[in-house]
Amino acid sequence: MSLKDLLQIDIPLIQAPMAGVQLHELAAAVSNTGALGSLPCAMLDATGLERELTALRSKTDKPFNLNFFCHTPAQPEAEREAGWRAALAPYYAELGIDPASIPSGPGRQPFSAELAEVLERFKPAVVSFHFGLPAPELLQRVKATGAKVLSSATTVEEAIWLEQNGADAIIAQGLEAGGHRGMFLTDDITSQLGTFALLPQVVAAVKVPVIAAGGIADADGVRAAMSLGANGVQIGTAYLCTPQASTSAIHRAALQSPAARHTALTNLFSGRPARGIVNRVMRELGPISKVAPGFPLATAAITPLRSKAESQGSGDFTPLWSGQNASGCKPIDASELTLELAQGFTR
Ligand SMILES: Cc1cc2nc3c(=O)[nH]c(=O)nc-3n(C[C@H](O)[C@H](O)[C@H](O)COP(=O)(O)O)c2cc1C
Repeated sequence: MSLKDLLQIDIPLIQAPMAGVQLHELAAAVSNTGALGSLPCAMLDATGLERELTALRSKTDKPFNLNFFCHTPAQPEAEREAGWRAALAPYYAELGIDPASIPSGPGRQPFSAELAEVLERFKPAVVSFHFGLPAPELLQRVKATGAKVLSSATTVEEAIWLEQNGADAIIAQGLEAGGHRGMFLTDDITSQLGTFALLPQVVAAVKVPVIAAGGIADADGVRAAMSLGANGVQIGTAYLCTPQASTSAIHRAALQSPAARHTALTNLFSGRPARGIVNRVMRELGPISKVAPGFPLATAAITPLRSKAESQGSGDFTPLWSGQNASGCKPIDASELTLELAQGFTR
């Protein structure tokens, strides 16, 4: 079955869910254009999810995708947290932040029974997961709503695992991709493949449709992915400067500057490797740090630095998530961008 038929869409393009930089406005604009808009739900509780879903449904009657994380949250370790705060201490002093005032606690919640209950009421057409799939009984509840289930694979082994465990289509997330690596069977960065190495190998290894993600920034990139056997594409970074995204002014400026040509994987902002534009804290402490607590616990201690620096107009402590190819980031309407990218399917 084609991806268009599976997801009931006219254009086999998925606007990547991007937690922290977009809500229903972007998803609605893309879905209304005939592609698949996505609502990132990793930072929403059940009340927030219901609010966003109500707003999204009021703006589109087309299919859309709801995206959840399904990680096992790291357990707090006092020693690790103390080491992390010690590494950040010079910055607290520099920015005048009292370390005693910093709250601890997780920044992102995994998919849960409470969130599944909201899905049962709203019955979205598509649900995608990052970091594998939820426990079988939760996945069963999602599937029972009639939703098609997608998840990201960063290696051939992950793609095979996802197919065997119930994914209806697989997003082959190449190393170029912005934001968090969806890796879940390994934490070995050296196992990660670029999009055009990963994609054909995943296509050869599974029977379900394969969606290419990572580094696709224009219609030519879409065409190249399709010629390597993709059934569709998922694009994130290119949407970050559209008016429907809530990307901050600091982040938008970085994406449209020469600085965007230098990205790296970093665990400093959350505890898991994610790709962003190299900034001061990444240069000075990482980009990968052994002392940062596990996902999502690293977030709490760095957030006050981010807030204070941003209030002074600086992105030195901001996760400037971006893929390796930010050349497609343009301040144009998301529907116009979708139609530009969709030309890659036709010529
Ligand atoms: C700012 C940003 C936030 C992201 N957040 C999520 C997320 O919440 N869930 C998810 O599944 N993927 C997330 N991703 C990864 C995308 O799904 C996708 O793999 C990636 O955007 C594709 O590469 P590209 O950015 O080069 O287009 C994010 C990517 C970016 C750039």
